[in-house]
Amino acid sequence: MMSRAEVSARVRAVMARMTLAEKIGQLSMLADGLVETGPPGPHNPFTMILEGRVGSLLNVWGRDLIREAQRKAVEESRLGVPLFFGLDVVHGHRSIHPVPLGEACAFDRELWEQTARDSAIEAFSDGIHMTFAPMIDVARDIRWGRIVECAGEDPYVNAEFARARVRGYQAADAEGFMRLAACAKHFCAYGAVLAGRDYAEADVSERTLHEVYLPPFKAAVEESVAAIMPAFVDVAGVAMTAHEKLMRGLLRTQWGFDGLIVSDYNAVSELMNHGVAADLAEAAALALHAGVDIDMMSEAFPQGLPVALERGAVSLEQIDDAVARVLAFKERMGLFDDPYRGIGVDISAGRAARRALSREAARRSIVLLRNEDAMLPLRAKSIALIGPLADAPEDQLGAWASAGAGAESITIVEGLRRGFAGAHVSFARGCAFTAPIDGGVDDAVMGARDADAVVLCIGEDRLSTGEAASRTKPEIPAAQLDLARAVYAAGKPVVLVLCVSRPLVLPDWLVDGARALLIGWHAGSEMGPALADILSGAFNPSARLCVSWPTTTGQTPVFFGMRPTGRPHDPNNGWSTGFLDAPYAPRFSFGEGIGYAHFTRGSLRLDEATINRHAVTTLRVDVTNVSEVPGVETLFLFARDPVAQVTRPLLELKDFTKVALAPGETTQVSFSLRASDFSYLDSELQPRLDNGVIRLFVGASARASDLDCIELTIADGPREA
Ligand code: BGC
Repeated sequence: MMSRAEVSARVRAVMARMTLAEKIGQLSMLADGLVETGPPGPHNPFTMILEGRVGSLLNVWGRDLIREAQRKAVEESRLGVPLFFGLDVVHGHRSIHPVPLGEACAFDRELWEQTARDSAIEAFSDGIHMTFAPMIDVARDIRWGRIVECAGEDPYVNAEFARARVRGYQAADAEGFMRLAACAKHFCAYGAVLAGRDYAEADVSERTLHEVYLPPFKAAVEESVAAIMPAFVDVAGVAMTAHEKLMRGLLRTQWGFDGLIVSDYNAVSELMNHGVAADLAEAAALALHAGVDIDMMSEAFPQGLPVALERGAVSLEQIDDAVARVLAFKERMGLFDDPYRGIGVDISAGRAARRALSREAARRSIVLLRNEDAMLPLRAKSIALIGPLADAPEDQLGAWASAGAGAESITIVEGLRRGFAGAHVSFARGCAFTAPIDGGVDDAVMGARDADAVVLCIGEDRLSTGEAASRTKPEIPAAQLDLARAVYAAGKPVVLVLCVSRPLVLPDWLVDGARALLIGWHAGSEMGPALADILSGAFNPSARLCVSWPTTTGQTPVFFGMRPTGRPHDPNNGWSTGFLDAPYAPRFSFGEGIGYAHFTRGSLRLDEATINRHAVTTLRVDVTNVSEVPGVETLFLFARDPVAQVTRPLLELKDFTKVALAPGETTQVSFSLRASDFSYLDSELQPRLDNGVIRLFVGASARASDLDCIELTIADGPREA
């Protein structure tokens, strides 16, 4: 419950005048049909505004429309309570940055924060007050279409991403109000849906919840995230929208979260489909009890809450508590003082800088995985650019592209033509995304024959990934593979650029036949120039995969944090963990990625090899750029607890850092460690820190061959002052 002290006199005064319908109105968020992210609702939101029966709108954008809706609320509704407006500003608003799964590969907290801050500036000037982001559902199943929205397979990376995003979105404007409230979603374990089917059940253990799915949300709460959205799914049989233990218990009481809980789209009514509510009143009561303040798009709060109140299933105090929270949020956003805050603020002067940041974000997100015979940077005088993704202004924006316009994208064709002004760049589409085009392959092959090198851009369109876009065959469509096969057969060196929003299963020949291989992602408005910068050498690639790429769909989920087994994988022993028909390791591992520079590492050193349970120490390693070009190296710090009371993951990511080094330069990288970083949840799920050895690994990826190890011993000792 919000204490009276936290509710301002203004909010109390407004509430004192409200009818029940107006109170419930504050708890109802409706969508305009302009942007569709779910089934349309039965009401015209504009009529509801006049009646005070809606408190916030989503998916409405356009300054005039927002201004008009707000005017109706403050001038024409009985109490004149301002609305707030929400939108999925997930990876940029007008300037679109790489899809989150791509930007996460930059492993750069500052960049993640800056792109969020720029998104907030753009959304704010369009009158948006809340973004339904960051999405921080750890995802390990490539069949799940929503994997694109998160920061990959690891809880620590998602937690760091959450912190940076919340800081960036919620940064204050000149008047000291936060520009854009963040809504961390989807609480929790949505990434664990059965077999990757969207919206399906998530049957995860308590341990996995606490070790994998909850830490990113804890991080968001620690950064004072303004709102949280429960997931559509049920977790071990309890629908998240009605999960009292996790929302009211863990989130509100244990973690002290006092922001808004906003349901997902229609999720409160959908409690009936989950089979836990018989009617709208029961659904509304379950959600309110669990802690939901705002019902997005469903009829449950508007229609069901009055009935639930009559039945005694909810109390007026519970409704008031949620209303007070919503009004306090509006007050905190400055909307009572200026309901039109932000709308139309002139941000044109910063546009060039924001586009430059999009380009920078894209350059830092594109992952180079192979560069045989130093094929890149490209020195070719004539380049055959081939493939449907090379000229895909809408698709390069990826899913959830907010107000991003394809017309403002710079495509790969345009980017390469500008970036390789001294070379001849021909372009052949070759095929459509999923179908051949007449003569397309022949044109492409002709182009390849006439050129010194081929840049082949294939992958998926933007609708192939995202919400309600799960797939049993996350693969490159056959028409594009046919194109690739024919282009390879032309015999010219090929730079393969995969423009995708999730890991795909790739045929061996496609990977093996490419001289250079890049994961371009759907890298946003500035994808073309960013890719050209990398191919020309104007930018030295520095991104690393934040998610493993399986060799086959059947291998999924595959991730570095698996637990050890009693029969560890041994390629020479048929009775060990693995598959008969697929390799054990993924095709590409977490952390993989190269650049044009080469680095060596010295041996790992610990300031103290033994520390007591309350102490800290530092791990140090020298890194040298042994090449002739400046470059950026990424180092990951993993830990393994080899003997614990319960089985611990083979590797746990504890930190990551990037260092920029001039040719020949050496620098010392240090990671500071607390003994308590190595505590874990025991068999009763209580935190426990053992005496004994922790293996620390530092390296360029999660592959064993990339890692060096040193042992730290934790021993009993007196608490240090
Ligand atoms: C999605 C949410 C999104 C909401 C509003 C839902 O379908 O699950 O992630 O924020 O729609 O667009």
